[in-house]
Amino acid sequence: MKFSRMKKQVDLIISDITELVTMHSKAPRQRRGPDAMNSLGIIHHGAVAVHKDRIVSVGSTDDILKSYSSRKIIEAEGKTVTPGLIDAHTHPVFMGDRSDEFELKIMGATYQQIAAAGGGIKSTVRKVRQATKEELKTNAVKYLARFIRCGTTTIEAKSGYGLTTDDEIKMLEAIKELNSGAFGAINSERPEMVSTFLGAHEIPDEYKDNKAGYVDLIIREMIPLVAKRKLAEFCDVFCEKNVFEIEDSRRVLKAAKEHGLGIKLHADEFAPLGGAELAVELGAVSADHLMAISDNGIKMMAAQKNKTIAVLLPGTTFMLGLKSYAPARRMIDAGLAVALATDFNPGTSFTESLPMIMTIACVKMKMTPAEALTAVTINAACAINRENSIGSLEPGKQADMVIWDSPSYKHIPYHFGVNLVDKVIKRGKVIK
Ligand code: NIG
Ligand code: FE
Repeated sequence: MKFSRMKKQVDLIISDITELVTMHSKAPRQRRGPDAMNSLGIIHHGAVAVHKDRIVSVGSTDDILKSYSSRKIIEAEGKTVTPGLIDAHTHPVFMGDRSDEFELKIMGATYQQIAAAGGGIKSTVRKVRQATKEELKTNAVKYLARFIRCGTTTIEAKSGYGLTTDDEIKMLEAIKELNSGAFGAINSERPEMVSTFLGAHEIPDEYKDNKAGYVDLIIREMIPLVAKRKLAEFCDVFCEKNVFEIEDSRRVLKAAKEHGLGIKLHADEFAPLGGAELAVELGAVSADHLMAISDNGIKMMAAQKNKTIAVLLPGTTFMLGLKSYAPARRMIDAGLAVALATDFNPGTSFTESLPMIMTIACVKMKMTPAEALTAVTINAACAINRENSIGSLEPGKQADMVIWDSPSYKHIPYHFGVNLVDKVIKRGKVIK
């Protein structure tokens, strides 16, 4: 037998893919020149070979079928295949909902007014404090399943509705336990989670006249414990006027860094406090929201040598009914690496759907469909330090993929308000 005829047996081949979008790159996309977020590495009539949980090869259907065979072949004629979507900013552990606030907002109340009246984050905090860890997990599971059904295979997940040491730990343990199936026995119903400690999400009522005392508690007690027990990979702060301002945020994040945590920041959401600048100063992996980023903030993020990704959350702007979307066009044109995320939470952005977020980003922030896809794959991977394992379809990377029931990736934002997901493949397992 001729050696060249011998085909390698693999667990799964997806063949005849009308549009295979590889996103072939490891760097934050924009840093590869002005058009980088638009270059998707598309292969027409493509195929992917998968063995165990890894991608073995990516190429034309002819080439792949010449070199590989499998008992399991999915023909994806007329379909699009992309990397599994990555949601780099979510708050998925909570109790209850805030549909009453949704109505109040429609009647004209602002997020800040609702918060001042005891609603907002604090109302979710009251419910989370009363809940057991098991109740938190049970509540989260149904939302996690919906992330998968919308094509999301990895999410970043924050604490931040406990605001006491015990309740923050309870939330982070819930995330860890929900995630434990992800390495080894795969839990097909859930995306993998990357956890973030957000003790500095709000000032709890018992510290309302003593913010410095709460910041001290975070620094002296919560961060050391979270780090010691390895309950989070990142630390985040809601840096905003009347919440944690620049100095408070710097103190918390510096302490987190000293304990070996990576850094994220809810920055410049409503007021241009200089959150983007602080994120760059501290070498944060991401600065998120940025609706009110200043020109100087854009300049500093563009000039940085480190890799702070701008994670934009237009679902929040949309659901709050605001007009001032983050200036995505100016950011991308200035050379920033932009990612998009849902900000999934029961108050300001109650959606698990990244395709919906892509639609809003295209229509309201004038991102191209290609930029939006880059922003929920490789750039989102960069925003959670996972660019070496997910976010693109390359040999050796984790086999996380979505088969879309549409002939082009452009349909993901364009064909809006419906679910175009045909199948989700997580670590090589076909799960939908
Ligand atoms: O990212 N802004 C602060 N945190 C969330 C909102 C959380 C909530 O309202 O429950 C956000 O928008
Ligand atoms: Fe958030």
